Amino acid sequence: MKDTLVKQAIHTMKHAYIPYSNFAVGAALVTTDGNIYTGVNIENAAYGSSCCAERVAIFSAIANGEREFAGLAVSAHTKRPVPPCGACRQVMSEFFKKDMPIYLVSESEEVYTFSMEKLLPFSFSPTDLTD
Ligand code: THU
Repeated sequence: MKDTLVKQAIHTMKHAYIPYSNFAVGAALVTTDGNIYTGVNIENAAYGSSCCAERVAIFSAIANGEREFAGLAVSAHTKRPVPPCGACRQVMSEFFKKDMPIYLVSESEEVYTFSMEKLLPFSFSPTDLTD
């Protein structure tokens, strides 16, 4: 599962829409049923309207009715495995269980594996609205 996700994240990077940064990111998200959703970063002439690859993959899965996830891989042409931005970590924490694995991939295909909890400890969560 890890290898498939990593391969898909790398493969989908070629679809990134990156006329401004030229920095491609690919993401591949697998559900507990084994369905895979990919995402790339999609930039915009109004820079702030851009969206990261991780959120594109998550939003695509959610829009297709998925709610339960088993793993995410994120890839970029970086020296160290690419660290997801803060906004993406917050979106991940809305949908991913604390022990869900997140695979971060570098240009040389070195992989760091983080749990959701390790990537965003003590995160604001839906239960904080009501507890
Ligand atoms: N980017 C992502 O897609 N994911 C991240 O977690 C970090 C940054 C994108 C946003 C922008 O299109 C480009 O990388 C440079 O910041």
